[in-house]
Amino acid sequence: MIEVGDLSATVAIVTGAARGQGAEFARLMCERGAAVLLTDVLEEEGEEVAAALGERAAFVPHDVSDPAAWTAVVAQAEERFGKLTALVNNAGVNRRATLPETDEETWALHLAVNQSGPFYGMREAAPAIERAGGGAIVNICSGSALYGSHNFFAYSASKWALRGMTRAAAVELAPRGIRVNGIFPGLVETPMVEEVGIPTDATTLARIPLGRLATPLDVARAVAFLVSPEADYLTGIELLVDGGMFA
Ligand SMILES: NC(=O)c1ccc[n+]([C@@H]2O[C@H](COP(=O)([O-])OP(=O)(O)OC[C@H]3O[C@@H](n4cnc5c(N)ncnc54)[C@H](O)[C@@H]3O)[C@@H](O)[C@H]2O)c1
Repeated sequence: MIEVGDLSATVAIVTGAARGQGAEFARLMCERGAAVLLTDVLEEEGEEVAAALGERAAFVPHDVSDPAAWTAVVAQAEERFGKLTALVNNAGVNRRATLPETDEETWALHLAVNQSGPFYGMREAAPAIERAGGGAIVNICSGSALYGSHNFFAYSASKWALRGMTRAAAVELAPRGIRVNGIFPGLVETPMVEEVGIPTDATTLARIPLGRLATPLDVARAVAFLVSPEADYLTGIELLVDGGMFA
């Protein structure tokens, strides 16, 4: 009998897994029995995270905005672990800039990493997941794809696009046995929040009914659920992990 939460039949690629949420997704999935290929542009950190997870984890350097690199990454997952059943599109960038402040470079960076990355990933992983007999894709969207966010114009645009891509892919890939769902974190304690200078003071906490930021583990539990057999009838859903922030 398979226990609830058991992921021993799962082989996943987690992008942006060298730190922050991605590292925690990989850790929790491995703890629950999955094999995980971690990828990131941060090589040293990624190698370190994967090494700590043991035999069922491996790291490959990978820029998600490079379509050719995706072909190699999917092939490596299949070679190393025999199949691919899940993809977690987590890698992302976030630069603070209002609409008038957004230059072409900032715009292009967000679209390349946050939008094109998951597009290339889904396009490349879908045939492999189908070959494995089906599975799941989880796209890490954002609260910024739920409302008109202030100060993060390109980020917001890229995450709204990812939200739309998630729904379109869910409809298209369902007949091929692939579920596609989106997770919408509110504010999560990761280097990203610090780097873009989002205050985590009392004013911010007052906007979160549960009274605290999410930990990476809060979001990882939702990811582990969505790739698990427990979520077999869920596709195209938008799961907010936000402590009630957007309720
Ligand atoms: N932290 C938050 O509050 C929050 C809220 C909502 C959504 N998110 C989303 O969650 C995801 C994870 O972010 P995080 O909070 O862990 O931040 P993070 O900055 O710690 O992690 C992002 C990871 O993506 C990697 N990355 C960046 N560009 C890449 C590229 N071109 N190819 C491969 N990897 C690349 C980074 O090296 C990093 O390891 C992102 O998609 C982010 O937009 C974060």
